[in-house]
Formats: sequence, C-alpha cells, structure tokens
Amino acid sequence: MTQEIILHYQLADGTTRTVDAKIGATIMDTAIQNDIDEVVAECGGSLICATCHVYLDEATAALYDPPDEMELDMLEGVAAERREHSRLSCQLVVKAEIAGHTIGTPESQ
Ligand code: FES
Repeated sequence: MTQEIILHYQLADGTTRTVDAKIGATIMDTAIQNDIDEVVAECGGSLICATCHVYLDEATAALYDPPDEMELDMLEGVAAERREHSRLSCQLVVKAEIAGHTIGTPESQ
C-alpha cells in the first residue's frame, strides 16, 4: 500500500490547500494531481522548463540535498522572484519527514 502524508501548498493568493501526497511521488506531481494551478510543469519533470518553481521554508529545505548543477542552472530562469530556498518541485520527492509541511508557490511560472 502506498503511504501518504498531508502536505500544504500555499497559493499565490495567500490561501492554503491541503492535499494527500504519496511518498515517492514528486512535489510537482502531487501539485498537478491536485489541480494546484500555480505549478505548471510544462516539461513534465525533465528539468528543462523551470515552471515547477516552489519556495521551501528553512525546515523543509534542510530535509533535502541542495540543488544540483542542472537544477541551479534552470533556477536562473524562473519567472518569479528567486528566493534562498527556491527549488524546482520536479526534483523533490515527497518523503515522510515533510508531513505537514507547507510548500510555497510563486505568483508566476
Ligand atoms: S517540470 Fe520542468 S523543470 Fe520541473
């Protein structure tokens, strides 16, 4: 049985959506499956579009390895403001440790 956790997405309008997230899926896939329109993901996770940009908070960012060279390159091209913990959500796999965490979304992709 696939394990699920609760994940929150903070939307650009300031509201929050709470969803069930499958462990092992990406934060991008989870957003798409739950109609979080703020995550566009044009390339479907191939790391060539940068339209799956999200903002992590300090605690969530600490639970992931830092972005690799390819992701850093793509982060140069994000449409919205790039912040300290800006990430591409297709590179972030949902894991038990982020249960209850909030993923921020940008105003544009
Ligand atoms: S979905 Fe295209 S870079 Fe993440």
